[in-house]
Amino acid sequence: MTIPGSFLDDLVSRVDITDVVGSYVRLTKRSGSSMLGLCPFHSEKTPSFSVNADKQIYHCFGCGKGGGVINFIMEIENLQFRDAVEILAKRAGVTVPDSGVSDELMGKRQRMLTLNRDAAKHFHEMLSSPLGQTARDYLAMRGMSKAFITKFGIGAAPDSWSLLMDAMIRKGYSRQELLEAGLARSSRKEGGAYDLFRNRLMFPVIDVRGHVIGFSGRILGDGEPKYLNSPDTLVFSKSRNLFALNLAKKTKAGMLILVEGNIDVVALHQAGFDSAVASLGTALTAEQARLMARYTEMSVIAFDSDEAGKRAALRAIPLLEKTGMAVKLVDMGVSKDPDEFLKKQGADAFKILLQRSENHISYKLMSVRNNYDLSTDEGRIGYISAATAVLSELESKPEREVYGGRVAKETGVSPESIQMEIAKKFKSRKTRARKDFEKKVTRPREAFQQTDRQQREANVVSAVAEEGVIRCLARDPMLISIAQDMGFSHTEFTSTFLAETYEKLTKRILESRDTRASLLLSEFDAAGAARLTNILEKPEALPYSEQSIREYISKIRSEKFRSVVPDSHMLLEIKKFREQNGLS
Ligand code: UTP
Ligand code: MN
Repeated sequence: MTIPGSFLDDLVSRVDITDVVGSYVRLTKRSGSSMLGLCPFHSEKTPSFSVNADKQIYHCFGCGKGGGVINFIMEIENLQFRDAVEILAKRAGVTVPDSGVSDELMGKRQRMLTLNRDAAKHFHEMLSSPLGQTARDYLAMRGMSKAFITKFGIGAAPDSWSLLMDAMIRKGYSRQELLEAGLARSSRKEGGAYDLFRNRLMFPVIDVRGHVIGFSGRILGDGEPKYLNSPDTLVFSKSRNLFALNLAKKTKAGMLILVEGNIDVVALHQAGFDSAVASLGTALTAEQARLMARYTEMSVIAFDSDEAGKRAALRAIPLLEKTGMAVKLVDMGVSKDPDEFLKKQGADAFKILLQRSENHISYKLMSVRNNYDLSTDEGRIGYISAATAVLSELESKPEREVYGGRVAKETGVSPESIQMEIAKKFKSRKTRARKDFEKKVTRPREAFQQTDRQQREANVVSAVAEEGVIRCLARDPMLISIAQDMGFSHTEFTSTFLAETYEKLTKRILESRDTRASLLLSEFDAAGAARLTNILEKPEALPYSEQSIREYISKIRSEKFRSVVPDSHMLLEIKKFREQNGLS
């Protein structure tokens, strides 16, 4: 998957990072070429996410994320390098040159998608064939209408070991392709295989671009496992997709309804709630939450009413909140899930539920309350302390008052004293936030060191000097001649990451390619890009001169000798070295 470096450099130079980031984050001009906004990668109330228009890089003082425009797209859209490049290329109106390898991979992906589409067609056709009788009966029993069966492309996998395989092989696919697509499984018999989905109601999983990427199959009647999902393949990742988002993304409802079951999704759509989606048999992931946030500002959780559903909701809330979406919950009372609720109470009742759906705060309060025994004094005191902490997180005063009133009722303490407690915590939270922000802005050095500590190097002194070498070279590639004169090479680094960075950088310089940070950063993954951005953005004590790179290199060398107990031969070497490098 190699895209020519020159193409990447050109692409990065063509797009403006402030435009690109600006379409995801509201940026305000800070000073000079720097813009500031709320970080899209962690939740914060005061902005620490900065975009530098001159350098064409972004950097968050809070969470330490950073990089160039390609890194940004990869991170925010959950994309692989190549896909991020494609998106940017489209934006810049250029085409990505294909190398042989990527052609092959793209070809393979494409073919898998076509196979999936053909398999979906096959399952759908089976549904109206004589073999689809069981599935048809089941759908009728669940009350699914013809129109929505078609809309969702629902199908049937009859009870057979090779019906799909035979049909697909007739169409020209190989057994190997079926195995790789997760549609077949190899059997004990050498070279044998059988259909993965048998005797199941088939839901194709379709991504937002309309590709059939996998399947979810519900057993017809009772049996184990109840649902069988495609394994992750070249085109399918359970944790990064949502069932029915291809349909729900077009909703005008201004929200996405997140449910647990595929059946719930279909039932909701059929009842007119065209914004329902479900995660694919796993707990909601951060990636899925971010995916939702691309299409809406409000998420409504309508998970099953059982304990498992409640727990899942409590886990999903922070993930959804983190994306900046508003999060609400519906309480379906005695109905076990949306499907049952709709059947028992109807669509109008669900509409009312949605309108009344509670802020997730009451949910949080409930989970906090479960930890205390409100019949004892200690329990009530503990609960008041925890609950007022939760409520002090609310930005809206009326909300703090309403929920505070609730806590007062539950504990028999006067609303006034609960309010006072909340106000106290609210105020100290605000003060803390303001101080944090001031610190970030006025003393960036300390904020930087924080992230350094997370990636502690074995020899910190040496690592600092190694970073210095990299910074010098990135700012002034001509300084490479000094390093060369001193016979310096990447093998002298103590940090693996910095050694690799140095190699990439020098390779660029020797190939006479631009060493601008924005371009260099496209060669790094998310963690690497973040680290390198931090390094490059670190305030520099020394100017970038021949002198500074010399000093850094000398420092690296003296640290190396310091960390071993020198024998007499080495002492001589050190002496020689010191003289050569003008060290006392
Ligand atoms: P449910 O058991 O609630 O299924 O699991 P459901 O879709 O509501 O179906 P009915 O109404 O009981 O017939 C919720 C979701 O969890 C995943 C599926 O995605 C399912 O839709 N799941 C469930 C699995 O992946 N595997 C299982 O064995 C069970
Ligand atoms: Mn269910």
